[in-house]
Amino acid sequence: MKKSLLIVDDDIESIHVLRQHLATSQWLDICGYATRVEEAWQMLQATRPDMVLLGGIKETERGVICQQFRLAFPHLSFIAACSPQELMWEPFFRNLGIWVVAKPIQPGQIEALAMMSPSLGATTIIKTSHPDDMSSSFSSQNLFTAPQTVAEAPLQPDFSAAQTIQAPQKAKHLITVYGPKGGVGKTFISRELAVFFSTQKKEGHPLRVLAVDFNLDLGTFATTLNLPRTPNIFTWVQEIDNQLQAMARRQGRDPLLFRNEEWQEYVSALNLSPHDISKYIVSHTETGLDVLTSPRDIRHSFEIKDYHLYLILETLKHSQYDVILIDTAPDTTDATIQALFFAEQVVMVGNPVVDSIENIQRLLKLLREAEYPEARIQVCMNRLQRKEMFTLDEIRAYFQLHPSKKIFSIPDDAEVKKSINSGIPVMLHPGRSSAKDAIETLGKALLPIDSEKTMPGAQPKAKERPSLFRWLWG
Ligand SMILES: Nc1ncnc2c1ncn2[C@@H]1O[C@H](COP(=O)(O)OP(=O)(O)O)[C@@H](O)[C@H]1O
Ligand SMILES: [Mg+2]
Repeated sequence: MKKSLLIVDDDIESIHVLRQHLATSQWLDICGYATRVEEAWQMLQATRPDMVLLGGIKETERGVICQQFRLAFPHLSFIAACSPQELMWEPFFRNLGIWVVAKPIQPGQIEALAMMSPSLGATTIIKTSHPDDMSSSFSSQNLFTAPQTVAEAPLQPDFSAAQTIQAPQKAKHLITVYGPKGGVGKTFISRELAVFFSTQKKEGHPLRVLAVDFNLDLGTFATTLNLPRTPNIFTWVQEIDNQLQAMARRQGRDPLLFRNEEWQEYVSALNLSPHDISKYIVSHTETGLDVLTSPRDIRHSFEIKDYHLYLILETLKHSQYDVILIDTAPDTTDATIQALFFAEQVVMVGNPVVDSIENIQRLLKLLREAEYPEARIQVCMNRLQRKEMFTLDEIRAYFQLHPSKKIFSIPDDAEVKKSINSGIPVMLHPGRSSAKDAIETLGKALLPIDSEKTMPGAQPKAKERPSLFRWLWG
């Protein structure tokens, strides 16, 4: 059956060229075109297309209209036509579940997508939570930098199916700690936040916390807590591969002949049980914190593909953990981008040094252009000394943050180095310190917790001798 396509673009010239080329297509019918958003809504109502091709529309951002259209018409497939300069946003479009084609548009590409786009009521099942959640619509194909790869595109998620298979789940919180520069304190802050949360309660229940090391090649999260590195993410990836290969064999296919893209399709049919996670984690006995560590051997990290990580993140989202903290590498690989898009909150870590500040600014720019919700980002300046060349207000202005947005700070503290070497988190040190207070402030801003303190370090404080001053002033 032919798919109907609505073209939304304010470039009438290119619409006409495309219409001419596709006039005799056996895969596609162009049901109409719109040059403005209002017109597009009317056409969507009137013509009920299967697919929408989004060219440029000056009055709005594509990601936004795409999400709005999808809410009203959940079955729609979207194709964004990008100029070469816009192709840098491709990973973000992919995370929104939008196909991307390079301009000038090749009619053959659009036909190939029509061929592959699921028909209405198709049974493609994808394990998602919210169709409006960017992370859930992720499909990790890398399309269209070269037109010939179009034919390898896997099926797009069927959002109508996604809506109906939602299972009620416990509220959980996925926090990604990121910073586009090495050595700024991401791993330190991830460890301290994870330890902080694992000693807290919410609504009377101790929080169940998992820390995940997404520095797949050179991760050291386990080391900073004196934990073993087996089992680890690679143990899980091997198990996923075993299941995928068994599935292929059951269908009479040779797993050795599979391409990456084909595995990506298979992944959406694989149902991982969140209960199996315990097989791949190591536990920090002092705090009850669980850790999914990075592989022991760098070579193992080369075998971890985007679709593995997607599946792992999806499974973690449906797990019993209340808080999942992801420590990342200072890069823009798909692993890191996925960790950013899956997160409900991102802690953007930097140091008060120009190179770190510059890179955060560049990252914020990219995320803004990709319409990443800025409310999710908490900026945290680590290693602040008493006198800095840049004040937090100057940094805020440089980042163009909303005046109401707080920049968190953590002081430079000689104890940090010792605590990393000894494997004993600062949050477990007895007594108070300004670094501990700062982590706690950040933690509480990320997730509301019960006010009663359960921090081991805070206990000696309660036993302090009664003081006349405290008695007088409370
Ligand atoms: N607040 C701090 N005060 C003093 N030293 C710190 C602080 N935060 C981090 N460090 C030091 O910086 C080093 C690098 O931190 P790390 O968390 O590994 O950075 P990243 O994960 O961003 O690469 C740590 O080994 C530690 O010695
Ligand atoms: Mg690190």
